[in-house]
Amino acid sequence: MTILEIRDLSKSYRSVKAVKKLTLSIEQGQAYGLLGPNGSGKTTTLSILTGILRQDTGAYSWFGDAPTPRQRTKIGSLIETPHFYPYLNLEKNLKIICKIKEMGFEDIDRVLRETKLDDRRKSRFKTLSLGMKQRLGIAAALLGDPDVLVLDEPTNGLDPEGIAEVRETILLQVEKGITLILASHILSEVEKICSHVAILKKGDLLASGSVKDILTEEEVVEFSCSENPKLRKLLEPSEIVSELREENGLLVAALKPGKSIEDLNRFAFDKGFVISHLASRKKSLEAQFLELVKDQTP
Ligand SMILES: Nc1ncnc2c1ncn2[C@@H]1O[C@H](COP(=O)(O)OP(=O)(O)O)[C@@H](O)[C@H]1O
Ligand SMILES: [Mg+2]
Repeated sequence: MTILEIRDLSKSYRSVKAVKKLTLSIEQGQAYGLLGPNGSGKTTTLSILTGILRQDTGAYSWFGDAPTPRQRTKIGSLIETPHFYPYLNLEKNLKIICKIKEMGFEDIDRVLRETKLDDRRKSRFKTLSLGMKQRLGIAAALLGDPDVLVLDEPTNGLDPEGIAEVRETILLQVEKGITLILASHILSEVEKICSHVAILKKGDLLASGSVKDILTEEEVVEFSCSENPKLRKLLEPSEIVSELREENGLLVAALKPGKSIEDLNRFAFDKGFVISHLASRKKSLEAQFLELVKDQTP
């Protein structure tokens, strides 16, 4: 079942085009990462989807229908830093949110347990660590047992321990089958949590699909022979390599999916080129991501 359908969504702030004709759909149970550097339009997109902001053009639908207030109860979100009362304890803070959401208090136990805050329920909010505060924000979003959880940079500003704990909290919800939409500028965070990813840059969607397909580690090889330019010409439009370039007298290419170094060697040999140097270079995901989001203009 399609949980969210976004069509040609655009939003500008005066001259800044924050989101440009974004089209995307998210299926039930997917953990979907919106990945992109600062300023790529992630927060703007999530704000539109949760009704905080209005789009200029385009449309979106949750659960196959036009947005209604009733639907909103099925979407739990944490877009900005949550506001809690510093001198009230966690339980009282959550009770206030229950009242705002017009629901009973019976879900409080569950959300505190699932965010591992139950032993702190009587602590004042201000005594929590940053990671715990963030988890309380997630707990508040989970009140009412929503079908979808929308989180914007949930580990921002946390120390490594806090990051790990927030990640665990999110993964628990993913395992329970919630549909997750997570905005992040950190590749490793998306890799560790998400099944799917959309890569955004300056409001443009650069790529989308399963994390496995989009962020797959492709094999990069460097090689050379006595006639590099000729070999290059032959390989450039080929079934074997993509992104061929020259680096310090070496040819460097990414192998197309399913192609091996042997395939490349055999191809060259069959065409009469004897490769004198051939070595594998693993391209890190980090490098691939940076390449995806770097300026496309030369
Ligand atoms: N309230 C605002 N007024 C003007 N420009 C804004 C506002 N909010 C965001 N922007 C601009 O819109 C672009 C996208 O911002 P944002 O959606 O916050 O991206 P991200 O969350 O990916 O960092 C940026 O260039 C940002 O400076
Ligand atoms: Mg943001």
